Amino acid sequence: TAERIDDLERRRAEAVSEADEAAAAKQHPRGKHTARERIRLLVDEGSFVEVGEFALRRGASFGAEGTPPHGDGVVTGYATVDGRRVCLFSHDFTTFGGSMGEVFGEKVLRIMDMAMKAGCPVIGINDSGGARIQEGVVSLAYYAELSRRNSKASGVVPQISVIMGPCAGGAVYTPALTDFTVMVDRTSRMFVTGPDVVRSVTGESVSAEELGGAEVNGSVSGNAHYVASDEADAFDWVRALLTFLPPNNLTAPPECPAAETAVPATDLDAVVPDSPNRSYDMRRVLAAVLDEGELLEVHSAFAPNILCGFGRLGGHSVGVVANQPLWQSGIIDIDASEKAARFVRFCDAFNIPLLTFADVPGYLPGREQEQRGVIRRGAKLIYAYSEATVPKITVVTRKAYGGGYAVMGSKHLGADVNLAWPTAEIAVMGAEGAVELLHRDELSEAAANGVRDTVRAKLVAEYRATMTTPYVAAERGYVDSVIRPSRTRERLVEALRMLEAKREESPPKKHSTMPL
Ligand code: COA
Repeated sequence: TAERIDDLERRRAEAVSEADEAAAAKQHPRGKHTARERIRLLVDEGSFVEVGEFALRRGASFGAEGTPPHGDGVVTGYATVDGRRVCLFSHDFTTFGGSMGEVFGEKVLRIMDMAMKAGCPVIGINDSGGARIQEGVVSLAYYAELSRRNSKASGVVPQISVIMGPCAGGAVYTPALTDFTVMVDRTSRMFVTGPDVVRSVTGESVSAEELGGAEVNGSVSGNAHYVASDEADAFDWVRALLTFLPPNNLTAPPECPAAETAVPATDLDAVVPDSPNRSYDMRRVLAAVLDEGELLEVHSAFAPNILCGFGRLGGHSVGVVANQPLWQSGIIDIDASEKAARFVRFCDAFNIPLLTFADVPGYLPGREQEQRGVIRRGAKLIYAYSEATVPKITVVTRKAYGGGYAVMGSKHLGADVNLAWPTAEIAVMGAEGAVELLHRDELSEAAANGVRDTVRAKLVAEYRATMTTPYVAAERGYVDSVIRPSRTRERLVEALRMLEAKREESPPKKHSTMPL
């Protein structure tokens, strides 16, 4: 027996520790960690249990080439993160370029299937040359198989992708199917076709960074939900994210002890400027509402006119969607709609209540938006809110104009509790625009008499007093109450508690046909 145990230890050392040392020699000079080091950076110390470390590529010659490398280019297993169970796979770029082959694919599928059965999140660490050229169609088949697993797991267990090197061709679509994608600045790239192919097909000359660097994917394409400054930062973000999420769709999100806000609630009474044309930072509002004032933002650099992120209210996880008046007055455009719609759907799938803060002048007008499909793509956010059955609570801080009023968690889309600040202006459009349209004749007559400004100011004031005040909406029950801003947090905590056991049935259907 001792001999066999020695043999096991020798084999394990060869497959794991020696392989990792060799990998370190290749990865470290590039500023990258090895597949196993990355897992160790993410998970609780000593918690990682590797699965499939002795896996070998099939059909390889065992002659002059020697045994093929163990593991087949991917490390798989399970571990805990802050005590919570997760399944993981981590590409080993130093073995066949971390490329997808048959055994590689089988290992990843097995760990994903395990996550589905166990009901725990899956985290994939990507650093791969793509489909393994030597294995041809087999590797393509496994990309498709993986995509099918991603779709099946979608809405069942949270799926997180971390991109720590190249991710190109067919390899991009599995991260794209997961819930969150984290990229590392400068060392990660994500594109369907690389610069060389682009040049040969279209003649366009573009750098890899411009085509698929972390910054571009985090701000322009929206493929990356978070851009990390380095690998450690990427894992810090994933760990923080996991603290808000339940392990699966049948479980409630984790609860924490309630904590104070970052700034006093009284700050809220002065946060909205007197002039309707002046902006303010919606983050200031969140700092005085959420536990410790903390918001883990998702997609912070993409469509910054809308904020999406996770926070806690009295210890409970909440998903926050808020217009950001600092950016384009918080207007909703295509990117904002898609960003928020996806976030709302994730929260709904995983039992995370939605908290909406509205200060929105409406949808962005213009040819560019119309031609790119602001109707079809702007509809996604309306759809997502309507479909969501988790507790939905909305606060209108200032403007809620036109379609913006309807979409930002209005009562009519099924919100449970709707509150407005006294500074709220709820109307089809702002008073200035409305007066120009409604009183065209009166204003031109006033202009002829040289008193246009005085008459206009009077009409605007009248319109504000009678049409846009939150009390008009409150009379009709479209808002449940108009509240003092400094009381917002306590009202939200109470509402959340009241809605704790909310149940809302949707009619049976195979699935929706949402506007994609
Ligand atoms: N299949 C098989 N082996 C691959 C591979 C793939 N798709 N991608 C990389 N490798 C291997 C390389 O042959 C090399 O092996 P070696 O160390 O034995 O020489 C090793 O991985 C490292 O690759 P290398 O090209 O030296 O690394 P790099 O950092 O300079 O470049 C890439 C990385 C991903 C940009 C480059 O390897 C590449 O373009 N790969 C092909 C990508 C592709 O077209 N994939 C198919 C599309 S899905």
